[in-house]
Formats: sequence, C-alpha cells, structure tokens
Amino acid sequence: MVKICCIGAGYVGGPTMAVIALKCPSIEVAVVDISVSRIAAWNGDQLPIYEPGLDEVVKQCRGNNLFFSTDIEKHVFEADIIFVSVNTPTKTRGLGAGKAADLTYWESAARMIADVSKSNKIVVEKSTVPVKTAEAIEKILTHNSRGIKYQILSNPEFLAEGTAIQDLFNPDRVLIGGRETPEGQKAIQALKDVYAQWVPEDRIISTNLWSAELSKLAANAFLAQRISSVNAMSALCEATGADVSQVSHAVGKDTRIGPKFLQASVGFGGSCFQKDILNLVYICECNGLPEVANYWKQVIKINDYQKNRFVNRLVSSMFNTVSGKKIAILGFAFKKDTGDTRETPAIDVCKGLLGDKARLSIYDPQVTEDQIQRDLSLNKFDWDHPVHLQPMSPSAVKQVSVVWDAYEATKDAHGICILTEWDEFKTLDYQRIFDNMQKPAFVFDGRNVVNVDKLREIGFIVYSIGKPLDPWLQDMPAVA
Ligand code: NAI
Repeated sequence: MVKICCIGAGYVGGPTMAVIALKCPSIEVAVVDISVSRIAAWNGDQLPIYEPGLDEVVKQCRGNNLFFSTDIEKHVFEADIIFVSVNTPTKTRGLGAGKAADLTYWESAARMIADVSKSNKIVVEKSTVPVKTAEAIEKILTHNSRGIKYQILSNPEFLAEGTAIQDLFNPDRVLIGGRETPEGQKAIQALKDVYAQWVPEDRIISTNLWSAELSKLAANAFLAQRISSVNAMSALCEATGADVSQVSHAVGKDTRIGPKFLQASVGFGGSCFQKDILNLVYICECNGLPEVANYWKQVIKINDYQKNRFVNRLVSSMFNTVSGKKIAILGFAFKKDTGDTRETPAIDVCKGLLGDKARLSIYDPQVTEDQIQRDLSLNKFDWDHPVHLQPMSPSAVKQVSVVWDAYEATKDAHGICILTEWDEFKTLDYQRIFDNMQKPAFVFDGRNVVNVDKLREIGFIVYSIGKPLDPWLQDMPAVA
C-alpha cells in the first residue's frame, strides 16, 4: 500500500488529502500538523474550515484510509510520498520584509523530514513557494541525507476556497514539475499515477521544476490582475455614467478575454493573491527587473485604491462623517462560502470606518466574533500601503459589535455595507430592514449583489460599485 503523508492540515492540505483518500482507496493518507487544536477539529464533528462538500468527503474516509494526527515524525517516517502544505506568509521582518515569502515553516518541515527519514522519499511542494525553492529544499535534504535519496516535485495547488471540493474533483489541470533526470521522471510518474485515479491524463501537465513553481505565482498574478483591471474600470464608470456590469459583459464576450473574474467589487482578499504577487515582485527585483516588479505591484495598489475609494464614497455620501453613526457590515469573509478572513477587504473597510468613529454592527454567517475582533485589533505590518498603517486603538475596537443575524445588524443603522457576496444577502427582506433603519437609509453594495432598482423603490439611497450614481450621490463631493 502506498503511503502518503501531508505536513500542514490547513485550507489546502485538509481538503486535498481528503479528496486523494476518497479517490484512491488503496492509498493510506495521513495529514499531520503541529497545531493540536486543528488536528482535534479535523478528528471531531466541527471541521476547522468551512467548505461546501468537505464534511461528506472527510466523514466517508476518516478512520479508513484518511487519518489526522499530530504524530508528525511517525507518519513522515512511514510515507513514500510527503506533501508539504505548510503556510508560506509574507515575511514581516528582515531581508525582503513586506514582499518575500517566509519559508521558515517550510525549512523546518524539510529539516524534520531529513532527520526522521530512513527510506527514499518523494517530497512534494504543495505550498506556493518562490521559484527555485526546490533547489534550496534539495540542498537541505541531501546535505542531511545519510544515503537516502530524495526527489523533489513541485505540485502547486489551484483550488479556490469556497469551491475547493468541486475544484479538486474536477481540476482544470494538475501541474507536476520535476527534475529532467530519469529519477525525476520516475517520481513525476509516481505522482501522476495518484492523480490519474480520477483526473483525465490530458489534464495532468508535467514541466520542469521552475516552470511549475513560477506558474502558480503567474496564475495568481493574472487572476488578481483581472480583478484590479475591472475595478479600475469601475471608477471610470462611476465618473462617466457607464455601467461596469454592462462593460464587463461586453468585454468578456470576446472569446480571447472570456467572462470569468470580471466582477467589479470592493477589492480582492484571501491569503494568496496579495502574498503571491508581493513574492513575485520581490523575485523580479532580485533578478534585476524593477520595471516588471512595478508592473505587478500596481495590481495591489489598485486593490488598495478600490478599498479606500469605497470608504471615502461611504463617508462623503453620509454628509462627510460617520462619527457615532451605526453602520451594519454584512459579510466579513473574503468571499462567499468560506469562513476565511485572511486579507479580507472587510478589515480595511471596517478600519477605515472606525477611523472616522463609526459604530459597526457586523454579521457574517461563517465568521466568529472572536475572529473578527482579532482581525480588527491586530496591528498589521505596513506593506507599503497606507490602509494598513494604523493599528486599532482598544477604544475603537469597542465600537464593534458582532451579531448573528442581518436584521439585528441593520436595526437602527444609518447605513449598510455589503462586503461579502453571500447568497442570503440577495434575498433579505429589505422592506423590513428599511423600516427599522434611520433615515435617510443608505446601502453601499461592495459586491453588487442587491437589486438596485428594487431598493431605490423602497426608499434606500444605493451605491453600487461601477454603476450609474444615485441622484443623491451625484450631488456629493467627488471621491478620490
Ligand atoms: P494554512 O495556514 O491554512 O495551513 C498551514 C498549516 O501548516 C497550519 O495548520 C500550520 O499549523 C501547519 N504547519 C506549519 N508549519 C508546520 C510544520 N513544521 N509541521 C507541521 N505543520 C505545520 O495555510 P493554507 O491556506 O492551507 O496554505 C498552505 C499553502 O498553500 C500556502 O503556501 C498557500 O499559499 C498555498 N495555497 C493556498 C490556497 C488557499 O486557497 N488557501 C490555494 C492554493 C495554494
């Protein structure tokens, strides 16, 4: 029986390994982590992450050929193939701070593999890493190898949170990079054999190591670039009376461009886009390519601009101050169908509003109060972006309440901000909400989910990103 061990039981390691276990009953899969609470949650009824369809997959395999454990060394020792899916955040100090990937977790995983291994291993980079990481990992492993042979593969993960199980069941492609030696090719084939249990062969691509590593950064940069491109257009739409939905529909109909990832919004979030672009920027700088670095950095700058613009629009619409006013925040996760709040635009928008002394009442169906309070009180590193500069004072954090119902959040509010595109926000009883709000009642839709005409009929003043402005808003000062 082939044995797989995955180091890192997070948003990637957990779902990916659960699907491998489901699709490959003859493989024993162990997912290990240093976090005792995370492993306990994987073994319990309430899984540590929310992902549609994940519960069913885990329950079907857990205890049969899928195991979650903190006994990292035992499972690494026994495994033939070791996936490393640990976090690779942006460095916050030292060389490359604010841009480079922090490979501390990766390096410590590699050293541990070298320490406990007594047989040949295939080590698979599942985490998103800078180009040439495999070379560094190879050096760590071979210098400590005591005769054991390692093959390093790069197998970046392209799943998206919120649709992880669907993406894993039916991936656009599986990418495997390896050394162009006979041993490297043999290792690629061993990993191909795993995926071939459910992925059509023509969707399994093999490349050299560096292409695989770089393709993941490139894919995320291209995706984020589309969002920043359409968001940049949304500002111009508001200034000219064009409608960004009509523009992106017309643009996306061009088969060379395509319709996906062209929704204007308050900005992208999540643990990957910003981090991976910063990483790409750093790699470009280190390779003497400042123009290329600046080109990609602009994608992040437009994202920050969009979040700032949203806050400014809100404040200027509400008579240039939200001080003491209750603002309902609907949605805090960085996108729908996940409870993940890493780099969510909601953090910056809420901080912007708290900076103007608003009182916030926040509702998200999947994010806990604890998480929201933690996110808002954390003093974030200054990535070169002014929106992150100010830590929240304890008194500002007291202006935040977290509730478990959209009606409670909006009761007596002066304005509503929709920051996550949860389906339930489309079907709320907006008449009931309007009746219970202060007047004039404002809606600022950061995800373009509400029916603007219907809400205006009820009496709301509505701002939707990139749409022709409400007559009320046209009279307000222009927003930078
Ligand atoms: P995560 O933070 O949810 O999970 C990482 C896990 O690794 C944590 O539970 C942590 O305790 C564990 N860990 C860290 N060091 C360890 C060690 N030495 N031994 C054992 N466990 C250790 O991170 P997530 O979101 O799963 O991301 C993992 C990697 O996958 C990152 O490089 C990320 O860029 C990449 N990725 C993430 C995607 C996403 O949607 N979240 C999608 C595609 C790639």
